[in-house]
Amino acid sequence: MEQTLKNILAGKKQFLNDLIELLKIPSVSADSSRNNDTRRCAKWVKSAMDSSGLTNVQIFETPGHPLVYGEFIKDSTLPTVLVYGHYDVQPADPIELWTSPPFDPVIKNNKIYARGAADDKGQFYMYFAAIQSMIKAGEIPCNVKVLIEGEEEVGSENLEAFVLANKELLSNDVILVSDTHMISNDNPSITAGLKGLAYMEVEITGPNRDLHSGTYGGSVGNPINILCKMIASLTDENNQITIPAFYDTVIEVSKKDRLDMARAPFDLEAFKNSLDIKQEQGEKGYSTPERQGIRPTLDVNGIWGGYIGEGAKTVLPSKAYAKISMRLVPNQNSLEIAQIFKDHLEKIAPKSVKIKVKPHHGGEAAVTDLASKGYKAASQAMEATFGKKPVPIRQGGSIPIVPFFEKALDTNCILMGFGLNSDAIHSPNEHFGLFNFYKGIETIPYFFKYFTE
Ligand code: BES
Ligand code: MN
Ligand code: MN
Repeated sequence: MEQTLKNILAGKKQFLNDLIELLKIPSVSADSSRNNDTRRCAKWVKSAMDSSGLTNVQIFETPGHPLVYGEFIKDSTLPTVLVYGHYDVQPADPIELWTSPPFDPVIKNNKIYARGAADDKGQFYMYFAAIQSMIKAGEIPCNVKVLIEGEEEVGSENLEAFVLANKELLSNDVILVSDTHMISNDNPSITAGLKGLAYMEVEITGPNRDLHSGTYGGSVGNPINILCKMIASLTDENNQITIPAFYDTVIEVSKKDRLDMARAPFDLEAFKNSLDIKQEQGEKGYSTPERQGIRPTLDVNGIWGGYIGEGAKTVLPSKAYAKISMRLVPNQNSLEIAQIFKDHLEKIAPKSVKIKVKPHHGGEAAVTDLASKGYKAASQAMEATFGKKPVPIRQGGSIPIVPFFEKALDTNCILMGFGLNSDAIHSPNEHFGLFNFYKGIETIPYFFKYFTE
């Protein structure tokens, strides 16, 4: 370990420069006009793997964006850690709210600002830095496989087929992922649960064309009015979801587990202040961390239709649309939930309109076994570098490939993230603390060490 830590110290400047190069590539997976950049990013990842000392480095083509794989096989009798991350990023919009250009990284107040800084380029690059420091020192204690994909932000659909077709290549003893956040820099934590996701698009059609809202208003079903009413009816006065059978498969978390979880520090006032809201809101009977971590939720992600240009155009629109996500908890099945959502919306739509409900990508929730070897190694590793034992926390985000990996490859996935929830991932001015970046690089070798021991 000693030489590894020296190499990390000596490499600090280069690691940051590499990350800056990586963040300059606008690998927005959802935007096909960026396909060339996304491919360029895959090539960048490949050459960074090569320079890190990984072998058998390959770009795997998929029907979508390519995957990049590399490995360091020390001895087949030693344990193997599979590292997963994603080089694709979310779109940068609304671009006008960025204080510096999203693909022109800048360092301010010891944070690096750019799209993908925390989600997930800054976090997966930590592995490249840690691995090269270990290889150079001749101190890598186990086998390592690294898989970085380019479609996480659009649902990882092609990765699923790749995993099923390459089980031998990806075989491992534990999967390690840094794509989540901690409570704070003083309160290290390990993500012990992620939510599943069912993401739906709804289209309501009223009259066959836009109408004059005076001539026709009040005599024809207005798709926007109707869609709003339908959406409003999906939650009740306790902020519970009203879709029949929605909670049927939810396993209630025990009193004891809830008490354990409540020990993780959470400051409600700071939470409200950070978002500039006077009051929090959510399902009755649950705390804010519980609402975020252990209860299923339903949110409108976008809603549109009618006239939204300058001034007032009087119009009764023909169509209205919404994108609605449901975050799910363990044992809820995303396909089943998508189906009952569709059935329910079709049922409550009045006869005055037509309705189309279409599911987008989704996935299942994940929970970590706190007694597993992988969790223990992550806990020891963070304790070694933070000087404080991390606490397990459940989070509301989703990484659908995590439960898929666990099932297909039959190993545990450990979510050792180093971001903060203030990093503004998916938002303007995304950033990643340099403290977090370097702490991650330093912690990873300890994970390898403790997992191997
Ligand atoms: N890294 C996030 C997931 C995440 C964020 C987990 C914060 C825990 C805390 C990931 O890149 C992501 O954004 N996932 C999507 C789902 C995907 C299917 C598009 C999400 O959670 O919205
Ligand atoms: Mn991510
Ligand atoms: Mn993301």
